[in-house]
Amino acid sequence: MKPLEEIKIWLEANLDEERYSHTLGVADCAKELAQKYGLDSEKAYMAGLLHDCAKCYDNETLREILTDKMHCDMTELLSPKTYHSPAGAYLAKEMFDVEDKEILDSIYCHTVGRENMTLFEKIIFLADKIEPNTRDKSWRKHILEVLEQENGLNEALLECFDYTIKSIVDRRLKMCLTTVKIYNELLDNVNA
Ligand SMILES: [Fe+2]
Ligand SMILES: [Fe+2]
Repeated sequence: MKPLEEIKIWLEANLDEERYSHTLGVADCAKELAQKYGLDSEKAYMAGLLHDCAKCYDNETLREILTDKMHCDMTELLSPKTYHSPAGAYLAKEMFDVEDKEILDSIYCHTVGRENMTLFEKIIFLADKIEPNTRDKSWRKHILEVLEQENGLNEALLECFDYTIKSIVDRRLKMCLTTVKIYNELLDNVNA
């Protein structure tokens, strides 16, 4: 893996200012959540730092990476907004020599999620939604309170999916099956 400072310099030079600020926020938040849940906080910081590394490429370039280099199944990537997620995992490996599967998988699934997400993947997914630099402050406060409840992490994720699903329906966008499956899985989990 390339040195942390080298990665930060690349991200600062290639992401726009707001995206870079968001990136640093996700890295810090991922580190804090990892400490809270007893995971490797340095690894979580790195995953947070790299999660949006593909955001500086246009949709056409990202689509080419997904189809030509990664041979992805595009049926679950209905919106071009989700392309940077799997493409980011590819770029983290190719450009920054990240070999750690947990880091790569968490980058891969940070937008749509996946069924049976690991604790590490859930933390990166959530950090992306509640980081302090660019996300809504009252939303962040609310989710941090939810995290303190029993089964807080799954409750917090369920709230994120509630919000996403409502917004997809409101905008009359297509919903991928993975979203529905994760929603059902989280419901089972919090009602168990
Ligand atoms: Fe993202
Ligand atoms: Fe992000």
